[in-house]
Amino acid sequence: MNSTTRKILITGGAGFIGSNFVHYILESYEDVKLFVIDKLTYAGNLKNLDRWKDDSRLDFLRVDIADKNAVNTSCENLDFNEVAHFAAESHVDRSITGPEEFVRTNVMGTFYMLELARKKYEQGSLTRFLHVSTDEVFGSLGEDGAFSETTSYAPNSPYSASKAGSDHLVRSYFHTYGMPVVTTNCSNNYGPFHFPEKLIPLMILNCLQGKALPVYGKGDNIRDWLYVKDHCSAIDLAMLKGVSGETYNIGTRNEMNNLQIVELICTLMDKYHPAGAPHKKLIQFVKDRPGHDFRYAIDPSKIENQLGWKPKYSFETAIQETVEWYIKNGDWWKEILSGEYKSYYEMQYKN
Ligand code: NAD
Ligand code: DAU
Repeated sequence: MNSTTRKILITGGAGFIGSNFVHYILESYEDVKLFVIDKLTYAGNLKNLDRWKDDSRLDFLRVDIADKNAVNTSCENLDFNEVAHFAAESHVDRSITGPEEFVRTNVMGTFYMLELARKKYEQGSLTRFLHVSTDEVFGSLGEDGAFSETTSYAPNSPYSASKAGSDHLVRSYFHTYGMPVVTTNCSNNYGPFHFPEKLIPLMILNCLQGKALPVYGKGDNIRDWLYVKDHCSAIDLAMLKGVSGETYNIGTRNEMNNLQIVELICTLMDKYHPAGAPHKKLIQFVKDRPGHDFRYAIDPSKIENQLGWKPKYSFETAIQETVEWYIKNGDWWKEILSGEYKSYYEMQYKN
């Protein structure tokens, strides 16, 4: 490693967006060192990083970020100068039935990561703490308008409230300690390695298995879909060029209601998996999510105008690629559905 090597601590790098970020960075930079730390909860899967398991640019450590002692003993001596903080409990439905883990990981875990980073900062070696957050902290929109960086916080679920708490802590480390923090708030991601409890992968896998497609309420709630690979390029840009203390919204102006997205997946499945056609017959309207936010929409003008970010993928191409990825990667999702992926750490990384 030379003095210009980027050395990034990535929390939650075995999850959906974190693992895509690892792929993005290792594909984009030769001279880089990554330390992935992850608790490997139900949502963390080392198979997501399999491609790099023999690459010396990547080290993996199993660490619970909400365990202060574990963070200190495992991470204090790691030689990183940037942090990309993805680790979180991320599923809204789980936060409704079990909010405690969300407060523990998302609030306390973020606090311990900030404290770890503060030590590096005081030693003069921290150049960036990038906190990955969500548009859900802004609450729910009506028919019009979009979230900007100045929209007031109004979180409605235990998940979004815990993310809002973490955003405020991150902000305070800039104002109080002068740390080089940046927060990004993005809309709903989709793409490879998405855990199949979330809408898009759940619908694809249920189509493949001939199972019902549960649409909450009338299916008229609106989400603003962002391809995970575009999200990763935006995060990297915000790490490199973002102004410390600032927040950046990330989205691609791609609103759809849930029924539209489920019907589109059915149409794509009819093409790529004709055996189950017509997949629309599997749609079932089910009881709504309590406190279900009606609409999210991101105004990404700030990151576009101030940092020059441009998404690379069209929705049409990316959703098609996503459907094809799940069809081709049956081993990946069958292991998840059977629970077998959880033993992979013990087999590969016993240390
Ligand atoms: P994910 O659930 O797929 O992955 C989360 C990862 O964090 C997993 O690998 C898990 O093992 C790890 N983790 C959880 N608790 C941990 C702990 N205590 N210690 C260490 N690791 C722990 O989530 P995701 O969809 O990849 O989301 C990543 C981040 O992006 C989260 O902060 C989330 O709030 C945010 N976000 C996600 C979306 C989205 O659409 N998925 C949108 C906006 C923001
Ligand atoms: O907006 C960003 C957020 O997007 C992230 O911060 C969260 O981590 C991420 O999980 C996601 O939250 P959502 O609640 O919007 O995503 P989910 O995939 O759970 O649901 C998307 C929409 O689909 C939502 O309106 C609920 C609906 N839905 C979801 C599931 C799982 C259904 O209708 N049926 C389902 O089975």
